[in-house]
Amino acid sequence: MWSRLQQRNIDDAADRLRAGGVVAFATETVYGLGANAFDERAVAKVFELKGRPRFDPLIVHVEDASRVGQLVTAFPDAARKLAEVFWPGPLTLVLPKRDTVPDLVTSGLGTVGVRVPGHPMARAMIEASATAIAAPSANRFGGVSPTTAQHVRDEFGDNLPVLDGGACETGVESTVVAFQEDGSAVVLRLGGVTVEAMRQAVGEVIIAESGSRDGAQASPGMLDKHYAPRTPMELVDLIDPISFGDDEAARVGLLLYLGRGEGVVQRFGAVEVLTRKADPAEAAANLFGAMRRLDAAGVRRIVAERAPDTGLGRAINDRLTRASK
Ligand code: TXA
Ligand code: MG
Repeated sequence: MWSRLQQRNIDDAADRLRAGGVVAFATETVYGLGANAFDERAVAKVFELKGRPRFDPLIVHVEDASRVGQLVTAFPDAARKLAEVFWPGPLTLVLPKRDTVPDLVTSGLGTVGVRVPGHPMARAMIEASATAIAAPSANRFGGVSPTTAQHVRDEFGDNLPVLDGGACETGVESTVVAFQEDGSAVVLRLGGVTVEAMRQAVGEVIIAESGSRDGAQASPGMLDKHYAPRTPMELVDLIDPISFGDDEAARVGLLLYLGRGEGVVQRFGAVEVLTRKADPAEAAANLFGAMRRLDAAGVRRIVAERAPDTGLGRAINDRLTRASK
C-alpha cells in the first residue's frame, strides 16, 4: 500500500510520537499537530507550539472505532450510528471521557472529542504509534488551517516533522457533534460531514447556535473570530466586481465562490475562485489554500462571498464568517 519512503516516514512519525514528540500529519480534513494523548508533557508542547489557550480542548484521533473504548465511558446509540456511517471520516464525537484521558487534553471537561480520520496515512501512523493521538489543526491559534504540508512548513518552519499525505481532500475540519441527555445529536461545529447527511442517518440533529452562551460553553474552541488571514476580510452575499472602481480594485483580493468572466476580474489585485462548477466539495477543498494565497498577495483587503447555505456550503460560510469578524 505504501512506498518504502512513505512507510519509513510513517514509522518515523510514529517513533517520534511514542517518544513524546510532536508531529504534524495529513488528515482528510486539514493537517493536524499531533502528540500522544496520554502523555501530558507531549500534549503541553502542542498547546505551546500552537499558542493555544488551555481552555480550548483537543480532538483525540484513533485508528478505528474499536479503540474508542480506551477513551470514553459511554457510546450512546445516536453516536454509534453516526460512527458506523461516517467513520473513518470528518466527524468528531464528543463523549464522556475516561479518567485516563488527561484533563489537559479536554480542558478539564468531562467529555472528550474522538475521531477516526479518513486519511489512510493518518490511520497507519496512529496504528504504528500504538496509542491515541491528540491533535488540533496545525496552524497558529486563530489562523487559517493548513491543507498541505507546505502550509504547515510556512507556519512552523522546517524543524517540525510533517507526515506529508498530499493536499487534504475535504479541506474543512471535522463536524463536531455532542449528545444531549435524551440522546439527540447537537452539532457544535459545522464541518466535513453535512447536517443533511447526519439527519438521514439518525433523524433529528440540532445545530447549536454559534456564539450563544450554551454553545460557547459546550465547545470552548468555537470563538467568534477564527480561521482569519492577517489581511482584513469582509464577507458579502454576492460580489459584484463592476461596483469596484479601478484604483480600489487593484488593492482588493476577491474570494469568489463561483468564477466570473476573466475581463471582469482582471482589474483586481488578486482573485481566487473556489469552484468553477458550483461544487461545494470542490469549494471546501480549495477554501483555506485560497485564503492563504490572498493573504500573501499583498492586497489591502479581501472581499469574500458566501456559498449557498446548505450542505458543505454551511461549513464554508461558518469559516468565512469567523474569518471576517
Ligand atoms: O478535522 C479536524 O477536526 C482537525 C483534524 C486535525 O482532525 N482538527 C481540528 O482540531 O480541527 P481543532 O483543535 O482545530 O478544533 C477542535 C474543535 C474545537 O472547536 C474544540 O473546542 C472542539 O473541537 N472540541 C474538542 N473537544 C471538545 C469537547 N470535549 N467538547 C466540546 N468541544 C470540543
Ligand atoms: Mg483549528
